[in-house]
Amino acid sequence: MATQDVYERPLQDLRISVTDRCNFRCVYCMPKEIFGSDYPFLARRELLSFEEITRLTRVFAEQGVRKLRITGGEPLVRKDLPELIEMLANIDGIDDITLTTNATLLPQHAQSLVDAGLNRVTVSLDAIDDDVFKAINDVNYPVQPVLDGIAAASEVGLNPVKVNMVVKRGMNEGQIVPMAEHFRNTPHILRYIEFMDVGNSNGWRLDDVITAAQIRDAIDAEWPIEPLDPNYTGEVASRYRYADGGGEIGIISSVSEPFCSTCTRARLASQGQLFTCLFAGKGHDLRTPLRDPSVDDAQLAAIIRDIWGNRRDRYSEMRTNNTAPIEATPLQWKVEMSHVGG
Ligand code: GTP
Ligand code: 5AD
Ligand code: SF4
Ligand code: SF4
Repeated sequence: MATQDVYERPLQDLRISVTDRCNFRCVYCMPKEIFGSDYPFLARRELLSFEEITRLTRVFAEQGVRKLRITGGEPLVRKDLPELIEMLANIDGIDDITLTTNATLLPQHAQSLVDAGLNRVTVSLDAIDDDVFKAINDVNYPVQPVLDGIAAASEVGLNPVKVNMVVKRGMNEGQIVPMAEHFRNTPHILRYIEFMDVGNSNGWRLDDVITAAQIRDAIDAEWPIEPLDPNYTGEVASRYRYADGGGEIGIISSVSEPFCSTCTRARLASQGQLFTCLFAGKGHDLRTPLRDPSVDDAQLAAIIRDIWGNRRDRYSEMRTNNTAPIEATPLQWKVEMSHVGG
């Protein structure tokens, strides 16, 4: 049976960040003022090697993990990523391997990723208008190459592609309907994500959040939508379909309707710390035991069981239940999104 935490949530998903680097500087994730040319990104030797990631993942699979998501930063900037996918795909018990990417490097890698055993891909795209998108990624990157990346994934059979759009007031709420229009009547599933207070550098305020209900209403006013049942227990996105048969969308209400009670996700940062929540202040160092020749797999398993067994995280629910305005609560240091990849 899968290892369970204090609230009986099983350890089922592992999200593996393979780099803290990215070729974008999205204003809500890696703002240039902080992630500039002098930012101390991790050196190669600090990152877990593919062999280390694979060994750890095998131990996690023995604890109940079935689903892997490869993240970054931007995971495709890590050299030879398909080799890692192939190593992970060979682990007993792993039945779903997905990648979250900004798609810029997908055209050149999609085929080798699929050949290696990648099952699905999720592409981050926050706008369909070039000017809005350029203002968000802050490196003057146009939309078309991202659409080419989605097409490349589709051509090698990674259908449907999920498209993640973070919605932030003043940044891209005007893109809610145009994005729906673009992805309607395609096999791809657009998912709207409420802007969250992850990390310490994105300047989050509750006022910046466009809620799931507001997003739902904006789309429903153009093209009526109807709710669908979840695909599985604990699915993060609420699913809807267009009443006219135009396909499916998802809305992720991490702020207005949190889903901590069914959260089965562990996150492994690229230098080997394990985070039991997206909003955790500090990770548990797994790299030290991993690199200690006297620690065997059974001992690694015991360390992971102990960490997950003591897990009490439910940050988003506590944020919602907290009657004091979030800005007034004591500052808590949180892991950056680019270290755990969402
Ligand atoms: P599949 O159902 O496997 O396709 O993936 P998913 O729905 O879990 O989607 P994905 O991993 O792409 O997550 C989408 C977004 O939801 C992330 O980028 C986060 O913004 C948010 N999210 C995912 N997991 C969590 C979580 O555990 N806590 C919070 N607060 N937000 C999450
Ligand atoms: N709120 C919600 N989602 C975010 N992401 C990054 N930062 C935030 C935030 N503050 C999303 C990205 C990507 C995934 C890795 O996480 O857009 O889809
Ligand atoms: Fe890079 Fe994704 Fe963060 Fe944008 S949101 S800076 S693409 S990791
Ligand atoms: Fe899981 Fe933490 Fe997100 Fe809640 S806030 S759903 S516990 S990662």
